[in-house]
Amino acid sequence: MKTAVVYYSLEGNCALAARILGEIFAFQTGEKADLFEIQTADTKKRRGLRKFLWGGGQVLMGSKPALQPLDFDPAAYGLVVVGTPVWAASPAPPVRAFLEKTPIRGKRIALFICHAGGKGRALEKLEALLPGNECAGGIDLVNPSGNLQGLQAKLEAWVETLRGSAPAPA
Ligand SMILES: Cc1cc2nc3c(=O)[nH]c(=O)nc-3n(C[C@H](O)[C@H](O)[C@H](O)COP(=O)(O)O)c2cc1C
Repeated sequence: MKTAVVYYSLEGNCALAARILGEIFAFQTGEKADLFEIQTADTKKRRGLRKFLWGGGQVLMGSKPALQPLDFDPAAYGLVVVGTPVWAASPAPPVRAFLEKTPIRGKRIALFICHAGGKGRALEKLEALLPGNECAGGIDLVNPSGNLQGLQAKLEAWVETLRGSAPAPA
């Protein structure tokens, strides 16, 4: 069963989690996961309050930003892991834009979100963007780059549950 990890990351946390997931899949299954990074056409860097207003505004307005092309074919994978940062208690708009352009249906999926402690219902909202799939599990990662050991342990346990070899972590 091939695994894809599809994610967006503005500041590196989801990218870090995706990379570690790829390594864990390789270690636990002998086959590495393929990583697909969703990237926006607009690559301008924004900082501080401006960044939050820009991103939060996109969520509030339901924006679907233009994306760079990504050569991802869901049909090639048995498990598709989708990851997003939490923006204004929601999945980041580039992920919404991507899933609208590239619908994933009839798959086993797993979801992860990265946030700073205020996830709201972001995981449920992400799952709602992926109807018609069997969700094997969702996980939320608080400030993942701030605790690498904890991140590794949490993701290892999660991958074991996704592979059906352990109960879901609390
Ligand atoms: C525009 C914007 C809005 C955010 N809104 C939230 C939020 O509602 N709750 C929260 O806990 N963190 C929020 N964050 C923090 C990010 O979710 C967190 O830093 C996450 O780890 C970023 O992932 P990334 O590094 O992959 O982009 C926000 C960050 C940005 C840029």
